[in-house]
Amino acid sequence: MSNMILDERQRAMLAEMGVRVWMPEPDEAPAQGETPPLAATGSPVPARQGGPETAEPVARNAPSAVESMVNEAPPVAIRSSAPAQRPVPVPVVMPGPASEALAPRPDGVDTMDWPALRDAVAGCRACGLCQGRRNTVFGVGDVNADWMVIGEAPGEQEDLRGEPFVGPAGQLLDNMLKAIGLSRQAGAEAVADIPTQADGAPRASRGVYIANVLKCRPPGNRNPQPAEVAQCEPYLARQVALVRPRIILAMGRFAVQSLLQTTEPIGRLRGRVHRYQGVPVVVTYHPAYLLRNLPDKAKAWVDLCLAMDVMRQGA
Ligand code: URA
Repeated sequence: MSNMILDERQRAMLAEMGVRVWMPEPDEAPAQGETPPLAATGSPVPARQGGPETAEPVARNAPSAVESMVNEAPPVAIRSSAPAQRPVPVPVVMPGPASEALAPRPDGVDTMDWPALRDAVAGCRACGLCQGRRNTVFGVGDVNADWMVIGEAPGEQEDLRGEPFVGPAGQLLDNMLKAIGLSRQAGAEAVADIPTQADGAPRASRGVYIANVLKCRPPGNRNPQPAEVAQCEPYLARQVALVRPRIILAMGRFAVQSLLQTTEPIGRLRGRVHRYQGVPVVVTYHPAYLLRNLPDKAKAWVDLCLAMDVMRQGA
């Protein structure tokens, strides 16, 4: 683990992340193994850590508009104004894509190249999330990156723009990445103020590839369901195989648990190096969670330091 006595450069990095430079006393730290409290509101309903955290109320398990229409809409009948006439039944026609049937995921995802994979995701109708999406959210960044960040699922902004992590959580993620010299700009275009290495030499700007476990937004930002994760996981697996990163930063409970096939809470999984497809995985809190729990940014910084150590050591 990196030395936590901070020099000027590290303080500047932490400032990028919005971290105030102090470390919690040992007795302030939440117990290892505890899932951090999820919602600042104290709501008994856990918010998906990856949702648009501040903009929308959490509606876990809320049915999508489509589901509501299907489940709750009574049969439609038009009555003529003439009382003696019998009601004329009118077929219910679901508008737009909701009327399109689900279809199996295409075969051969595990051998697809980038264009084929992108097309397969764009046309995927393997689970009900396709019925409420405005865009699929494939991934963004440098496809040759050493670093890969894996989040949970698109929120509202991501669904609108078709790009992962573009809402408030995305801004924090970008600052976290910038603090360690990374940028989502494809091909790792110049980062304005690249942190220097210990020997004072400027560090080369590096790209990062960012993707989610789910490629479609769960309605109302409810938690991903296991069947949805199972349908989508092959796409992510192929993205990892194509990027071949040297390190994966898994952010948030659903990303972590689905990559590592575990139900252990993040608090118990932090501070260790895990593996996915043989690639080292460091787990950390989701930026959306960090926005609600600002003191835990210091822990996320510790996790980033661990990831940097792994990269340095080539674990
Ligand atoms: N949360 C995620 O996990 N992914 C996104 O793309 C946005 C929010």
